[in-house]
Amino acid sequence: MTDWRSHARVEQILAAYPDKRSAVMPLLYMASKHHGHTSTEAMREVAELTGLTSAQVQAVASFYTMYKRHGVGTYLLSVCTSISCMLLGGDDVLAAIEDESGTPDGETSEDGTFTVEHVECIGACGGAPAMQVNYELVEGVAPDQGRALCRWLRDGRPDVVLGDEMQELFGGQRSFDWGSREASGAVVPFPAFAPYGTAGEGR
Ligand code: FES
Repeated sequence: MTDWRSHARVEQILAAYPDKRSAVMPLLYMASKHHGHTSTEAMREVAELTGLTSAQVQAVASFYTMYKRHGVGTYLLSVCTSISCMLLGGDDVLAAIEDESGTPDGETSEDGTFTVEHVECIGACGGAPAMQVNYELVEGVAPDQGRALCRWLRDGRPDVVLGDEMQELFGGQRSFDWGSREASGAVVPFPAFAPYGTAGEGR
């Protein structure tokens, strides 16, 4: 397997900052994607690249929930249970998804298809209750729609999940009904940020 550190994007990311320590987050994404999760080795490699200590890299990684210390399933189902979503049934959506996927909150299904987690506000309060699949947003989700979404993923096993598509099939009220259509979706259960250079990478 190619060492992710030899990827041209690593040099591009490091060159984008006046101080290479500032590259710690995008490099953690790259390392985590390569290793499958934010492993001890991944953090050590990022420390070497940035001149930080492993403890300093771990301090960053442990603060942000998107850096997973364990591998997750093919589809990471993140259900918001913060105040706006909770008031509009987010806990019921979570319970329906746990039941339909056979995966308790915080765990991964035995076959590796799903990981289910409850999350804090994902910035879609106007479309509560909201959830994400591999960080692709779906708003206005009712419990039955959450169940249908699980079945759609399990039966169809899409290689790419697209928020706009899931919204049309399983969503309800959105925060905003304007804006451009998505050009690409998520192919892995990792966040994809174009400015960080972590978007557009395959499995
Ligand atoms: S409270 Fe759920 S998206 Fe903000």
